[in-house]
Amino acid sequence: MTIEVVNHTGREVAVTNFNKERYVCPQHMEREWQRIWRRSWLLAGLESDLRESGDFFVFDLGREQILATKAADGRLCAFHNVCQHRGNRLVAAERGHVSNFRCAYHAWTYGLDGALDAVPHEDRFARGVPRQERGLKPVAIDVWDGFVFVCLEQPPMPLLDFLGPVAELLAPYRFRNMTLVEDQTVRHRCNWKAVVDNFSELYHVDFLHPQHRRMVDCCNDTVHLFPYGHTGLAVKGATVNPRFPVPDEPTDIQSAQLMSLGLDPADFHGRVLDVREAVQRRKREAGRAYGYDYSPFSDDQLSDVWQYNLFPNTIFSFTPEHLWILRPRPHPDDPNRCWFDKISLVLHADPKLSGATKALSGPGLGEGGPTDGRKPADYARPERDEFDHHAILSGAKTMTITIDQDIELLGGVQAGMRSNGFNDVWLSDDELRVQHFHNELDRLMVGGAVC
Ligand code: FES
Ligand SMILES: [Fe+2]
Repeated sequence: MTIEVVNHTGREVAVTNFNKERYVCPQHMEREWQRIWRRSWLLAGLESDLRESGDFFVFDLGREQILATKAADGRLCAFHNVCQHRGNRLVAAERGHVSNFRCAYHAWTYGLDGALDAVPHEDRFARGVPRQERGLKPVAIDVWDGFVFVCLEQPPMPLLDFLGPVAELLAPYRFRNMTLVEDQTVRHRCNWKAVVDNFSELYHVDFLHPQHRRMVDCCNDTVHLFPYGHTGLAVKGATVNPRFPVPDEPTDIQSAQLMSLGLDPADFHGRVLDVREAVQRRKREAGRAYGYDYSPFSDDQLSDVWQYNLFPNTIFSFTPEHLWILRPRPHPDDPNRCWFDKISLVLHADPKLSGATKALSGPGLGEGGPTDGRKPADYARPERDEFDHHAILSGAKTMTITIDQDIELLGGVQAGMRSNGFNDVWLSDDELRVQHFHNELDRLMVGGAVC
């Protein structure tokens, strides 16, 4: 097994066996709220939900709700979703389009820019209403490549400084051109960090996800460590796991990849390890004919599974044709619970490149690549589907086989963490990204500077 580590931080990664309190302790959770959530840039939503002036969405995070909107002058604005009269939640809908925000309680009305514009029976406030002071409480907002970020404490460091080399390395993907095709949330029975940990290592993949032996080489990966706690991973795709015997015929997933590119799986009899390079070459040669421009990408990016974790809680898993955003959000007061979002986007074929409408299908992590030739305009924005983790366990809902396996497992991790029979974690070299993530958490929890 070979792990190549590309360390962009300029510092050695300190190894610690951190204790379990951070996963189960309400006091720790409270400190996290002050030290982590209030002070970090957080991926709140998609810019495509704020196309027109008056479009808005609400980002739910623990005890806070942030209202993001596009003002009349085209500026993006974000506020705490709280009426400044007596504290009612101002907007109840998750997203929509309005000309102003009117509180349901006593009808105080705010403009799209957060200004308090109307107060019914204002003459009955003997002290008057200081409208300048009673506008919505603003939070910082910025956009990067189609994603809306917010930071609750102002002023934050510039978003691009926070993302650092991550933004440069992800630039070829042009996520802003992708279309949202699925929006899911599971109410999960684990701490939010257990989800980030899970998507920060491949050590578990051979055992929990045996189906992956048909599609990725989990033994040889490249790990990236970035400033501010971000991490990255690249693992060879369109191949097989070398820990297991190499089959004579391409696997079903390799065959699907080959056929989607107009190649015949039979030509790869006895040459299964050549499939990855053939996929790379074919995408370069025929991409434009299918309506895709692969010129900005390296060969590795054309075939492999890439995953970047943006501190603290956003996981991007992506190929040139698709992106999953995996995002655990903390519960307001229970460290044993979180909300876990899976937001799926795909890049549709661009007919301008070739006159083609046919989309390449790529399996990404094995499930979830683009599958048909529909154009972005063919899709209505899907409603968010929220369900309990029991719906995953019973099979009533799925977030793909692989993620369902993770979700089921993580309930057991949280249960074990709560036991007196467990004190602290003991990490392997394969779990370096877990360590890096927790080192950044520790730095901030003792008062280190962020944003
Ligand atoms: S609480 Fe909103 S108008 Fe009274
Ligand atoms: Fe997993």
